[in-house]
Formats: sequence, structure tokens, C-alpha cells
Amino acid sequence: MNKKFTVKSFQKAKDDKRPISMLTAYDYSMAKILDSAGADALLVGDSLGMVVQGHDSTISVTMDDMIYHAKAVTRGAKRALVIVDMPFMSYHVSVTDAVSNAGRLMKEGGAHAIKLEGGVEFAETIRQIVRAQIPVMGHIGMTPQSVHMFGGFKVQGKSLLQAQQIIDDAKALEEAGVFAITLECVPEELSKIITETVNVPTIGIGAGKYCDGQVLVSNDMLGMYSDFVPKFVKQFAHLSTDIEGAVKTYIKELADNSFPEKKHTFTIDDEVISNLNK
Ligand code: KIV
Repeated sequence: MNKKFTVKSFQKAKDDKRPISMLTAYDYSMAKILDSAGADALLVGDSLGMVVQGHDSTISVTMDDMIYHAKAVTRGAKRALVIVDMPFMSYHVSVTDAVSNAGRLMKEGGAHAIKLEGGVEFAETIRQIVRAQIPVMGHIGMTPQSVHMFGGFKVQGKSLLQAQQIIDDAKALEEAGVFAITLECVPEELSKIITETVNVPTIGIGAGKYCDGQVLVSNDMLGMYSDFVPKFVKQFAHLSTDIEGAVKTYIKELADNSFPEKKHTFTIDDEVISNLNK
């Protein structure tokens, strides 16, 4: 088995200029496939609120939801680092709450690290979680839990003021002790500046090619989620079409009696049957 990918491997990858591959996972079977295909990190993202639960944002996701999915994913991951999102309102009320909820994701969910959204305003919270020996990944730019503050899922950092704020956020996260920073939906030139400014790795999603790694929502990149396909998504497969085809074939084979076949069927001794029939 390949050596486990750890938070230390994140830093080494940046230093060696070797791109970090990260994908979301929400269940055991998918985690096993992504892990054995070689993904460095699996993110149990609160995007599960949208792609698994069918909500139009991540706001309603709970701690119990995250723990449930984290448990399944950690059972499927042998090599990849498993990072689990802190859901909306699990770290906003107090630092004490934040540390104890981060602890639950590690103890109950089996997370190797946690991720939370926000910059300068959460630096102290992050510092205290790290002090509790829990590795933290930051997440800045277009942070989906702030969708109602942004007035929609919109690219962030296009104006001078916003761009400077995102750079300040990245520096504050690094100073607070994060092991990596997710940059979501920011212009490529801005993520290049941030990637060159901070020493910790940057992981981009809709942030262009200069980040130290990339993350995508698996359901998006596998072509399984069509409610909303952002500009930055590349569909590397079209599983919805494949699944639909398979299901249509299944229904047709039931109708024409070609499934199940002999090889899918269990048998019993003739003698038992004749006794049963008596
Ligand atoms: O929840 C999630 O899947 C995420 C990614 C979009 C980075 O945070």
C-alpha cells in the first residue's frame, strides 16, 4: 500500500511543486474508489447538503449529518487524508463550541483534519482548534455558507478592496496555523498572488491553475449532479447518462424475462422440492 497522505505530505507536495488532488466523498463505496484511484485527500464537504440531500445550499447541514458521512468515508479511505467540513453554525457562536464540535468530528467521525469557512474573523477560533491538536484547513473566497451575505454564489475578489481582503484573510489563516487553504471562485491572478505569498499549500476550486492543488465535488466531475453546473467544473465522466442507460436495460430485461438468468439463481435438490410438493 502507498504511504499515507498526511498534513505533512500537503506541505511537502507544495515544496516539491507536485499538485495535490482532492475530491469530495460522502459514502464508503465512493471513498474506496477515490482512494484506490490515488486521490491525495477526500473532503467530506458540507456540499452534501446539495448533492446528497437535495437542498439549494449548505446552510441546513448539521453536525450529526457530517459525523454520519465522515464515519462512512473514513472506513473507505486507506491512504487519503480525510478532511471533514464544519457545518454552518458549528463554529460561529463561541470558540468553546467550535473546539468541541471540531473534536466531535475527529472523535466520532474519525476525521484526520477539519475545514472551516472564513478569514480574519475566524483566526482566533482556528488558533484554538489547532491548539487542541486538530489540523485545520481554511476556506476563503466564495464561501458557500455565506451565500445569503453574498447575494448568491458569486465570484469574489474582483475589486481591489475584495482582493486585498482575501489576501489579508489568507495571511491571517496562515498565521493562525492552518495546514492548507481552499480558495473558491476567485480570479486566477489573485489565487496566484496568494499561492506565492503564503507558505502553506493552496487548494483551488474555480481559482485557476496556479494553486498548489485542486478540489472538485465528485458528483460534479463525474457528471452525476445537474441542478447547477458551475463554469469551473469539468465533467470527466457522464455517470448520470451511464446510470440511466443501465436502469433502462434492467427494466427492459425484466419485461422480456431475460433477467435473472440461471447464473443469478440459487437451486435446491429435486428431492426436497418433491417432498415440499407432497
Ligand atoms: O463542501 C464542499 O464540497 C467544499 C468544496 C466545494 C471545497 O467545501
